[in-house]
Amino acid sequence: MKVAFITGISGQTGSYLAEYLLKLNYEVHGIVRRSSLIKTDRIDHVFNQINLHYGDMTDGMNLMSLIQKIQPDEIYNLAAQSHVKVSFETPEYTANADALGTLRLLEIIRSSNKSIKFYQASTSEMFGASPPPQHENTILQPQSPYGVAKLYSYWLTKNYRDAYNIFAVNGILFNHEGPRRGETFITRKVTRYVAERSLGLINKPLQIGNVHAIRDWTDARDMVEGIFLIMQKQEPDDYVLGSGEGRTVLDLIKVAFNKIDIELDWNENEGIGRNKNTNEIMVEVNEKFKRPLEVNSLIADPTKANRELNWKPTINFDTMINEMIENDISSISNGD
Ligand code: GDD
Repeated sequence: MKVAFITGISGQTGSYLAEYLLKLNYEVHGIVRRSSLIKTDRIDHVFNQINLHYGDMTDGMNLMSLIQKIQPDEIYNLAAQSHVKVSFETPEYTANADALGTLRLLEIIRSSNKSIKFYQASTSEMFGASPPPQHENTILQPQSPYGVAKLYSYWLTKNYRDAYNIFAVNGILFNHEGPRRGETFITRKVTRYVAERSLGLINKPLQIGNVHAIRDWTDARDMVEGIFLIMQKQEPDDYVLGSGEGRTVLDLIKVAFNKIDIELDWNENEGIGRNKNTNEIMVEVNEKFKRPLEVNSLIADPTKANRELNWKPTINFDTMINEMIENDISSISNGD
């Protein structure tokens, strides 16, 4: 039985990865941060099958003693302060968790057991200002403290691989979404709003930042499959995972509103989207949600993953958004 240690197990991707590895008969361990309100709703249904420990990416001694106790075969480093806008407000914490946290794990592997395989959750946010499509050799020009911290971890992972012969790999993942997505990320913010609208629970417009940014949105469950495949390669290597399809934030909003039979009429000068039939204002740009610096366009070139991992997303964008809206409608109806 293989033993996996997942940092970020209570997050969207960590929870799907835990399920995936459990199905493959792994012994799964993960860390959750201690706080007065512990949020484990994404893993509550597998609570009895996984092993949760208190831990924190900013606490090296804690990580060291956990890894010595658990003796994992594989470490998946998914924990992070992962919100780009928040990283502008908490840059030091973001660097501590997202950059130094990776250093802590890799140093523990180097000094205690170099046979532990290591997966680093790298991100398309590292491409930043480089125009799309972005692939493994695209120049990295991050545009946020989050992207810069992740860049450090990306290079450190490569560095420990080359210097110490550790199986350390980067999955460079484009945006990944699904029903378990956090509510402050754009897809979930929109699907939750649309769900509330359709239930008649809200009549204020959706407040939004930059509607022209382009992103490549893939289902998180497809990404988990890709993460696993990257870890199965004979030789450690880095891979871009994404669908190869770019859409604007406005496209996303229109698709979501369409699901509840509302056609949006967007007025660029006013920064307002109206219901075409009723003229009611549904969406409104609010400067508060814009970032000091934006990444304009992220679209994956996943050729290498297609070719070498035989990986391709199976869930399309519309299906994913549909499921998210339906899930939001039923969870709101159930009082969640
Ligand atoms: N969150 C948010 N809220 N984003 C908004 C809003 C809003 O009200 N209005 C417009 N946006 C735009 C953002 O400016 C950005 O261009 C886009 O919507 C997507 O924002 P997020 O969903 O917050 O994701 P992200 O692209 O910044 O970062 C996500 O993807 C990365 C991979 O590229 C996160 O999951 C990162 O952790 C991940 O690394």
